[in-house]
Amino acid sequence: MFQSAESSLTSKRELYNQLASQLSSLLAGERDLIANAANFSSLIFHSLPDLNWAGFYFERDGELVLGPFQGQPACVRIKIGQGVCGAGAAKCETVIVPNVHEFPGHISCDSASNSEIVVPLKKGERLIGVLDLDSPLLSRFDEEDAVGLERLVRILLASVIAE
Ligand code: SME
Repeated sequence: MFQSAESSLTSKRELYNQLASQLSSLLAGERDLIANAANFSSLIFHSLPDLNWAGFYFERDGELVLGPFQGQPACVRIKIGQGVCGAGAAKCETVIVPNVHEFPGHISCDSASNSEIVVPLKKGERLIGVLDLDSPLLSRFDEEDAVGLERLVRILLASVIAE
């Protein structure tokens, strides 16, 4: 999968379409954030290729605290503005890092990680937390992943927060 630029685009889009549908079914009828975030991290960890970590940090009293995840044990608390997760939280924007070794302040939780993407969880303008994915491949994540993951995060948030 993901060989040529064009097939990569097509297959990634299809994969995220399938994941959106699977996630909606998986989370249907449950409103607990921890339970749904746990199933979310398991689904994407086992469905997206070339990941070594997938999970959440939630905002607690001005810092990020580890939430449900799949992968190696990780650092528990990250200050807003620190590392890739803290940068995504501070900007409230998706951050794609092609090479974590070139990112100032990157927090290394698993020496296997070489690239990373962080997607903020927002309710309106309020930051709830971040989704963090790590890959052993350099440049694993692109704009198509950002769009797909932002869509999946919206499904998660819609499942747990009353409009
Ligand atoms: N690399 C992250 C820390 C979290 S782990 O990758 C699970 C960072 O720089 O914020």
